[in-house]
Amino acid sequence: MTQDELKQAVARAAVDYIAPRLDSRSIVGVGTGSTANYFIDYLAEYQSDFDGAVASSEATAERLKSHGIPVYDLNAVGEIEFYVDGADETNERLELIKGGGGALTREKIVAAVAKTFICIADESKKVDILGDFPLPVEVIPMARSHVGREIVKLGGDPVYREGFTTDNGNIIIDIHNLDISRPIVMEEKLNNVVGIVTNGLFARRPADLLLLGTSDGVRTIE
Ligand code: A5P
Repeated sequence: MTQDELKQAVARAAVDYIAPRLDSRSIVGVGTGSTANYFIDYLAEYQSDFDGAVASSEATAERLKSHGIPVYDLNAVGEIEFYVDGADETNERLELIKGGGGALTREKIVAAVAKTFICIADESKKVDILGDFPLPVEVIPMARSHVGREIVKLGGDPVYREGFTTDNGNIIIDIHNLDISRPIVMEEKLNNVVGIVTNGLFARRPADLLLLGTSDGVRTIE
């Protein structure tokens, strides 16, 4: 199977998992990226079974709306039962690196609110130790140099993502060669750097369920 077919398989598995659990008042939190896009397309088949969605990016909001799915402001909704999103890396404990698409801040907010975070990923994303994928951090533009120096102190190599602006008007720095053998500790250290809005480590709030696309089928890891 191609990587794209594996992404489609996990997106379909996520819809199959949540569809029977939705009712007419349900709000679904929706992530960002190519795997999440397949999820949106399949979720649209069930749009009469739930109320609407909260989006983790402008791109996701546009795709949801193109299917006629109502998109709500997070502040206007009550409970979000499920948040479904892809990842750039996951370990066995379902701690993640996210933000390859630059949407990490809104993704982290919706994940924090949701009762159940379902991660959908193809098997290339599964690693023993996080960190081969450069860790994205969203940064207030005026703090770029300061944050870069702080990242070097933490042992990483900061690379400014040229020409990219987040949905929140900020910049992204991708951290290469960072030791993420203790993800919660590193997430908290980065949270303490003034000027970083959000880092792409999802370790304090990992996924609850991972649907992993493999050539032998979709594996469910809790
Ligand atoms: C978006 O900012 C990211 O967190 C994505 O969830 C992540 O990059 C996975 O993207 P793909 O599904 O396109 O691999």
